[in-house]
Order: sequence, then structure tokens, then C-alpha cells
Amino acid sequence: MKKILVVGTGQMGGGIIQVLLQGGYRVNAYDAVAAALAALKPKIGKAFDKLKEKGKADDAQINGWLDSLTTCDSLEAAAADIDLVIEAATENVDLKISLFKKLDELCAKNTILASNTSSISITKIAAATKRPEKVTGMHFFNPVPVMKLLEIIPGLHTAEETCGACQALGEKLGKTVVRINIDAPGFVVNRILVPMINEAVLVLQEGITGADAIDKAMAAGANHPMGPLALSDLIGNDTVLAIMQVLYDEFQDPKYRPALLLKRMVAAGKLGRKSGEGFFPY
Ligand SMILES: NC(=O)c1ccc[n+]([C@@H]2O[C@H](COP(=O)([O-])OP(=O)(O)OC[C@H]3O[C@@H](n4cnc5c(N)ncnc54)[C@H](O)[C@@H]3O)[C@@H](O)[C@H]2O)c1
Repeated sequence: MKKILVVGTGQMGGGIIQVLLQGGYRVNAYDAVAAALAALKPKIGKAFDKLKEKGKADDAQINGWLDSLTTCDSLEAAAADIDLVIEAATENVDLKISLFKKLDELCAKNTILASNTSSISITKIAAATKRPEKVTGMHFFNPVPVMKLLEIIPGLHTAEETCGACQALGEKLGKTVVRINIDAPGFVVNRILVPMINEAVLVLQEGITGADAIDKAMAAGANHPMGPLALSDLIGNDTVLAIMQVLYDEFQDPKYRPALLLKRMVAAGKLGRKSGEGFFPY
């Protein structure tokens, strides 16, 4: 794999692009929102400046990385001559299905199409294409340059070769790769983690104690590096809600019902760090 297209340049897409550039790959970046695409190079430039301040990169390296990044405002142009697509657009099933249908039409036959979805079925996404054997889940964690884990998730028709190629890429990027056997909602980490966050929102909703106290308790009592509400703000409360909704819809089990307060927070635009306010102000 030499040239990779990242679709969606929000917090995950930006992080994935950063680690790919540092890994020596050429990257095309596409986002449907012009402002998100325009913000990409300054955002990555800032991250590289921090590496320089810490003595972990020099100007020549940074310029080389930035020269390997091309931003495209047309998906058609971005998809030409690409070995792998990593899709990191908004967590919405209809949006991803329509994106994969388009990518399937635009990309060369041998291009692998991977989704960074947190919870949506890879089999369902793959069914939108005529190459389900070349579609896989490649689930990075936030923030991508810091978090070690990469989950690789096959759909029902995904070829072993496809998963193997994505695993090899992940290992080259220095990630700890965990292979998932079955395409089940939430895979492993989000199946366990996101209901825990939702439970913290329920504790807040019931008035058992305040947001500060919940986070303080989980940090000191469960040894978590940050509390669940601060984590929800970091992930994006809209993304947390979308994952809970997928777990609920797919399993049809009431234990996965999203907290009403989480729904109201998202409706009010309190998405967390990315909107400036969530359970905490930023
Ligand atoms: N936030 C997390 O902690 C996290 C962790 C792992 C995986 N994910 C997954 O990564 C994906 C992206 O999440 P995020 O947190 O970066 O969200 P985000 O809101 O920061 O970014 C999403 C980006 O997708 C763009 N977009 C929307 N529709 C598009 C389209 N049709 N074509 C191209 N771009 C489009 C938006 O403009 C935005 O820039 C989601 O599937 C999410 O579930 C998120």
C-alpha cells in the first residue's frame, strides 16, 4: 500500500492522516464540508509543530510529511489511483452506505475500502458495494496518534487477504492490532465502553451526584485515566449517542437504551470538545 485516501477529515480522519503521513504514506484527503477540509492542513501542521518542540521531528521531516498530503474537494478526483480508502465520516448508516456505493464506483477494482465506523455493521456497509470481499472495518481510537489499539473487523464476505493487508498497515504504523472474528455491534471496545459511558449519563440524569463527582469517582475508584463524562466529551456526545442507538437497534435489548439526557445534550448542540461545551465547558 502506497497511496491512501481518507474520507472525512474531522477528529478521527485528521488523526489517521497524521499517523499515515508519519508512517511514510502518501495521503489524499476528502471531506464533504469545505471548512473541515480547509482546517486540515493547519490542524496537522500544529500537531507536527508540537512534535518539533518535543524534539521528535525536524523541519525537513515535517515538510516531507506535509508534501505527501493532498486535499481534494472532489471525491472523484480524490479516489483516482488509490490502494486503500479509510472512511472516517460522520457515524450515520445511510451516509456510510451512500459513500461506499460511490467509492465502489469510483475506485479501481483492487482498491480496499475500510471504514473507521465505531459500531455500524461492516457487512451492511460492504453490501452497498460490488466488492464485499475487499471491505473491512479498521477501527482506530481517539486520539489516533496516542491510542495504540486498532480493531480489524471482517464483514461476512471479507477476504482474509483484505484483513491481512490492513493488519500489516496497522502494524507498520506501530498499532496494537486486535482481530475481531465476528461483525457484531460495537465490536469489542465500544460494546463494553460506550454502555459504561451511557450509565454514567444515567447516574447524572438521576441526580445521584454531579458530573465532576462522577468523573472523579471513576478516575480514583476504577483507575480510569479520565472520567466517563469527560471521555464522552472527547469522543463527541453525538458519536456516543449514535453508537448507543446502533447497539439498541441491533440487539433489541433495553439494556442498551440511550440516556434521555444524552439525547437532549446532542439536540442542544452540546457535543463536547468539538462544539466547545458538553458535560463540561471547553
Ligand atoms: N470520536 C471518536 O472517539 C471515534 C473513535 C473511533 C471511531 N470513530 C468513528 O470515526 C468516524 C468519524 O468520527 P469523528 O469523531 O471524526 O467525527 P467528526 O464529526 O469529528 O468528523 C466527521 C467528518 O465527516 C465529514 N463528513 C460528513 N459527511 C461526509 C461525506 N458524505 N463525505 C465526506 N465527509 C463527510 C464531516 O464534515 C466531518 O468533518 C465515525 O464513524 C465515528 O464513529 C470515532
